[in-house]
Amino acid sequence: MSSPFLLLLLLISMAAAGQLRPRFYSETCPDAEFTVREVMRKALIREPRSVASVMRFQFHDCFVNGCDASLLLDETPTMLGEKEALSNINSLRSFEVIDEAKDALEKVCPGVVSCADIIIMAARDAVALTGGPDWEVRLGRLDSLTAKQEDSNEIMPSPRSNASYLIDLFAKFNLSVKDLVALSGSHSIGQARCFSIMFRLYNQSGTGKADPAFEPEYREKLYKLCPSEVDQNVTGDLDATPRVFDNQYFKDLVAGRGFLNSDQTLFTFTPTRMFVKLFSKDQAEFFKAFVEGMLKMGDLQLEQPGEIRRNCRVVNDHRRQWERSSWGKDHSLINGNIFWKMERPPG
Ligand code: HEM
Repeated sequence: MSSPFLLLLLLISMAAAGQLRPRFYSETCPDAEFTVREVMRKALIREPRSVASVMRFQFHDCFVNGCDASLLLDETPTMLGEKEALSNINSLRSFEVIDEAKDALEKVCPGVVSCADIIIMAARDAVALTGGPDWEVRLGRLDSLTAKQEDSNEIMPSPRSNASYLIDLFAKFNLSVKDLVALSGSHSIGQARCFSIMFRLYNQSGTGKADPAFEPEYREKLYKLCPSEVDQNVTGDLDATPRVFDNQYFKDLVAGRGFLNSDQTLFTFTPTRMFVKLFSKDQAEFFKAFVEGMLKMGDLQLEQPGEIRRNCRVVNDHRRQWERSSWGKDHSLINGNIFWKMERPPG
């Protein structure tokens, strides 16, 4: 692993999470959480998978330089976006649901609710609306001023990852083996592409064969779904009940019916197996551990300047804000959006 990555992980500070708190918007935007939940409710009706797709954003945002909505920034001529990073391109979807939530929030309380917080609320809502636990989220994040595609490439794990690699990766974010297994239970909802399992079906570990961990009937089903010449964007369900957030995912792993290698490896590898077994038998334990994991993951933050974006896809126009203001003032409150002092306009 390269040293910039290690350095980056060191910089991620859980301490900063002290500023996050439940009901952060109770004074400034009392309807914030209700508004996001309603947008998610509509998204679920319109396209059931979309809420799973939105829930995934929390993982892909928070692991890359903290939960700062850097994931949502569109590419610009001077910045490669994280949307095109290896794990995200042709895979992350339903960004429009976040846009909808942001638009709704800008109408009721303009410039107040960060996109980073919208991701956290929406992920919680996805789980609650599909039958999983509901919990109080800590809020008060700022949105980043940039995105780093190369960091996403370096950090986000491949579907080929084995449990030992995933344990090490999660440990760098202060997430335990239990957190890893519980958070992987997010694959209780949603789908994945054939692209993500072709190696597992046809050439696991360079053997030219399928992963022996597959239960044979399930393997045959996947061969039909993903024949070797398939359009690899065809999708399959991540567990047997992909619209319900429950512990079926873990029951499937015990039965050798995990979709991704990174899923099934949690059962084949001893240190993670005990948690898979526990969660497969006790849904309440899974829900409890999942909520703890989501809260811990949601606390990941990098000390960096931030703002409340008006549009989750682009940073605010600081030059215009600067021109509207007078030189030499403390700009920490210009439009309520710039949170550091500048000598001159950036960019
Ligand atoms: C433990 C390491 C993880 C790996 C290696 C992993 C990998 C993947 C892959 C490869 C896909 C399918 C992508 C595709 O084929 O297009 C996927 C889907 C998904 N992941 Fe993960 N994931 C991990 C952990 C997580 C976590 C922690 C969460 C959220 C808390 C999460 C939420 C989801 C969801 C909800 C989907 C389905 C999305 C949809 O239907 O659009 N994953 N993941």
